Amino acid sequence: MFDPVEKLKEFIRHPSVSADPKFKDGMVGAREFVAGLLGSIGFKVAVVPTPLHPVILAERGGDPSWPHVIIYGHYDVQPADPLNLWETPPFEPVIRGNRLYGRGAADNKGEVMTHIAAVARLLERRPDLPLRITFMLEGEEEIGSPSFPAFLDTYRDRLKKADFVFLSDTGIPREDQVVITCGLRGLMLFDLEVTGARGDLHSGQHGGVLRNPIQALAEVCASLHSADGRVNVPGFYDDVLDVEPWERAELAKFGQSEEQYREFLGIPAFHTAKGFSPFEAVRFLPTLEFNGIGGGYQGAGTKTVIPSKAFAKISCRLVPNQSPDKIRALVYAAIRERMPKDVTFRLVDQHHGTPYVVVPPDRSNTPADQPVVLARAFRAADAAVTEVFGQAPLYLREGGSVPIIADIKRVLGLDSVMLGLCLPEDNLHAPNESYHLGVMEKGMRASERILETVAGG
Ligand code: BES
Ligand code: MN
Repeated sequence: MFDPVEKLKEFIRHPSVSADPKFKDGMVGAREFVAGLLGSIGFKVAVVPTPLHPVILAERGGDPSWPHVIIYGHYDVQPADPLNLWETPPFEPVIRGNRLYGRGAADNKGEVMTHIAAVARLLERRPDLPLRITFMLEGEEEIGSPSFPAFLDTYRDRLKKADFVFLSDTGIPREDQVVITCGLRGLMLFDLEVTGARGDLHSGQHGGVLRNPIQALAEVCASLHSADGRVNVPGFYDDVLDVEPWERAELAKFGQSEEQYREFLGIPAFHTAKGFSPFEAVRFLPTLEFNGIGGGYQGAGTKTVIPSKAFAKISCRLVPNQSPDKIRALVYAAIRERMPKDVTFRLVDQHHGTPYVVVPPDRSNTPADQPVVLARAFRAADAAVTEVFGQAPLYLREGGSVPIIADIKRVLGLDSVMLGLCLPEDNLHAPNESYHLGVMEKGMRASERILETVAGG
């Protein structure tokens, strides 16, 4: 059996930033590394080409009567910038305290390694385990998985006979409190570009005769929320479902105070939609956020200019039952109506992802036809987490997104059991990302037990 922490370090040393073509070698390196590792523990590995970053499919076949689990993860990582804020270089993993630091440590290389190590240990102990396992690791999660739906279509017949998908790419509040994630928010992203005059103008020579595009952009952006913290776009909340009482009850056990959360964020006060606690808002409500805004002079000193252009990068997080296409149409309609007619503008579609929800067994809204193996996997996860972490898991929706989970449901008809393993302190997408090695060790034990229980026998 290999040393999981050493292997994770090796994995992190390959800078697999999917967003930036400069990191092509890192993508190849990470892929070859993980494909090799899966091969070394007896899996039949295929690297499936896509228009951008290949998918790794690694199989342990077996008798068709055995349960079949697909373990999903991603080998790509977010860009490491801003580099100057890292205490040690992002792609030179180091252990400090009980954490392994490096880009991708927690999102998602650490969890991928957790499951590979769990499987390796399990198969070493039980070489005849009656379980079919397919690792499906993509390289485009952090850029919206552009190639993944087509990949799923191509491999549909082969993959749809599996029983469920198992993954860890979601969060937990504390190292002893695991969350089994029952929902993911969706996403809808676009750019808004506003143009005033045909070029930059002297603000004295021409100031006072035209609307500044930065002003137009700011006016429209400001109109997209109302004072009560809600998104001010007609129809935006129409498809949001009521929250089941069990979900609120589960969240009540969360154990973090609003005050602790406020301090963690470093904000003077919350600004949350009326009628929702911050913890509820993040899970049960959609949002509209400005991810970036710009235009005009950004350099040192001053410049008297009326810029020709201004832009904003905008995204909506969506909750189950909302459609990205429908929300896009509603938001665009509001912007078109509100944009002053004395400027021109462009709306540029970016990617989107559908929200996802899965209901564990024995709940008020559990589907009557929930597959037996899926229910068994949820129960196995509950028991394994309780035993290994010393506390029953919470069943919560996640504020973040893993958009392909909804695609997997749509194309393959499969639901996902999502074992959260990353902590708020792990700094996902930020400098000094790290993975908690205690969580990793317990995660391995939990994963091993879950898989063994699903196999039965
Ligand atoms: N692992 C995250 C999702 C996540 C974020 C879970 C925070 C728990 C807490 C995932 O890799 C991710 O970052 N997803 C992106 C998707 C986007 C780039 C299409 C997200 O949510 O922004
Ligand atoms: Mn991520």
